[in-house]
Amino acid sequence: MGVSRSLRRRAQRSRVPGRRVMEREDVPRRRASEAFRGAGRLLPLAMVMLLGGSVLAQGPTYGVGRTPTPEEIRAWDISVGPTGEELPPGSGTAAEGARIYRIRCAGCHGRNLEGGREPRRAPRLVKTEPGRDVDPWDAGRILPYRSPYATTVWDYINRGMPLYQEGTLTADQVYALTAFLLYRNDVIAEDLVLDAESLPQVEMPNRDGWAPLPDWKPLSPRLPGYPF
Ligand code: HEC
Repeated sequence: MGVSRSLRRRAQRSRVPGRRVMEREDVPRRRASEAFRGAGRLLPLAMVMLLGGSVLAQGPTYGVGRTPTPEEIRAWDISVGPTGEELPPGSGTAAEGARIYRIRCAGCHGRNLEGGREPRRAPRLVKTEPGRDVDPWDAGRILPYRSPYATTVWDYINRGMPLYQEGTLTADQVYALTAFLLYRNDVIAEDLVLDAESLPQVEMPNRDGWAPLPDWKPLSPRLPGYPF
């Protein structure tokens, strides 16, 4: 009530001086002022069209934002898939990895890869019975043993570790750490040099233990039994 009354009052107030001005105005001036008011109404539309035009030129799909620069795409596009074709140059061995592990990882994952204690409950990184073939599904959640692809271990460390300092390892260090973790899980020999060539060829013990997922396409039904 109060609001609508004050709005009405404001409208009346603004109408009164407006009428007085109109009475004093001659015809050409009125036309000019009408034309100006018309232009004022069109201005926002013109701006939207101008902006829309330049946005459309840059982002044809959604019409918002801008196309990322090649440098920005390079910084985000760091995932490494099963074939390892995205792997950067560099190399490392288990011996080098053991040294880096002690400095960068042992504080959370334990000196012997046994996993951290409270409050830093980082998971174990080695199967419980080294030297023996253990069913990867019984070995617990050990990425460098259970993963179907060795490249996934590289990718995980490169993107996610050390926790809170992600992105601070060089490619050589990630190759070395991957070699160390794979060696400690009896997946590779101690002296194997891992690089973009050799890493994708490493055969993980659980290579065929995972069900292949169908390629997802928009509007695909959920997998049967999928819980969510
Ligand atoms: C600040 C503590 C911390 C540090 C330092 C750290 N990690 Fe981790 N790491 C974790 C935690 C916590 C997880 C579990 C993350 C999760 O479940 O999402 C993890 C998970 C992992 C995993 C996956 C384990 C699995 O089986 O799923 C790997 C591999 C790993 N870390 C390697 C490393 C390496 C190599 C380093 C050293 C470069 C490192 N971490 C340093 C805390 C840490």
